[in-house]
Amino acid sequence: VFILSLPKDSGFFMPDNKQFRKIEGNFKGKDILSLDQFNTTSLQLLFDTADKMEHIRKNTEPNDTLKGQIIALLFYEPSSRTFSSFAAAVKQLGGATLEFQGMTNSSAAKGETLEDTIRVFEAYTDAIIIRHPEVGTAAKAAEAAENTPIINAGDGIGEHPTQALLDLYTIYKKYNRLDNLTLLMTGDILNGRTIHSLLRGLALYENNTVYLLSPENLKLKREDLEAFTEKGLKLIEITKEEEIPTSADVWYWTRVQKERFTDLTEYEKLKHAFILTPPLLQKYAKKDTILMHPLPRVGEIDPEIDKDPRALYLKDEVQNGLYVRMALMQLILGKNLNS
Ligand code: NCD
Repeated sequence: VFILSLPKDSGFFMPDNKQFRKIEGNFKGKDILSLDQFNTTSLQLLFDTADKMEHIRKNTEPNDTLKGQIIALLFYEPSSRTFSSFAAAVKQLGGATLEFQGMTNSSAAKGETLEDTIRVFEAYTDAIIIRHPEVGTAAKAAEAAENTPIINAGDGIGEHPTQALLDLYTIYKKYNRLDNLTLLMTGDILNGRTIHSLLRGLALYENNTVYLLSPENLKLKREDLEAFTEKGLKLIEITKEEEIPTSADVWYWTRVQKERFTDLTEYEKLKHAFILTPPLLQKYAKKDTILMHPLPRVGEIDPEIDKDPRALYLKDEVQNGLYVRMALMQLILGKNLNS
């Protein structure tokens, strides 16, 4: 359910050219496909709702705003956190889930098209959360769905909007603003979909600067660099640790995305190009720089860092992921909150 700028009969799907339906402060019944759908008002509404969700969760107040609704989780790519965080969010609000991990084992393995799968699940469910290895699949699902909201839980190297929403919420809770920030993002800038969504979110606010630290071959696509810069985000690409600024408010570390490499020896060479260690932190971070990572981490953060109070990846980000996903489900499908 989104507006496609290409003629529908072009038969060719170009995610870069599509126009997603904007949220404009009203989430009801809408797809969540890209951070490009958001403006600052919509983000603020989501954050305010997430605050309420924290309260609901912590006080274990009985809540049934999704009662009678069934939400499908169709995951064609491995996931533990995102999958269980969505499932928990739905259940916390009194909804039920139809859960499929490893979708290739099901009808997809028999060659069913995505469109058919979506149409079938539409008959059983009130929303469909989908993760898929190909860019643009969530958008394709949204086009196939007649009136069931589709939520993108990661489309290949495209976007991962709900991760970015929880990351933005985490930064917002720490600094009480999302403008005038300096960030360092490290790792697989080219293939990291969480980064692609997060940059879109940061571009909505004034005066943000992002240092992008990666090996030469894992830099952001040139067209993305231009597009974000045009939106007013200041991006500074660096390739050496010595170039890390000492002024960053946020460090956002990421994993080199092994599954996106065709040449695994190349992956082996790059996977630990940058490791977050205590000496690195000591040298370049501020006393209150927050340390974030979407997880899973595979050796790019020294476990010594976990004890540091600035490390938010195993605590705040995971918690906030639940609240933000509860808030999204509430805003898209929920009945009025009895608050
Ligand atoms: C991320 C993803 O799937 O893109 N994981 C997640 O959902 N938190 C990050 C990653 O896999 O590196």
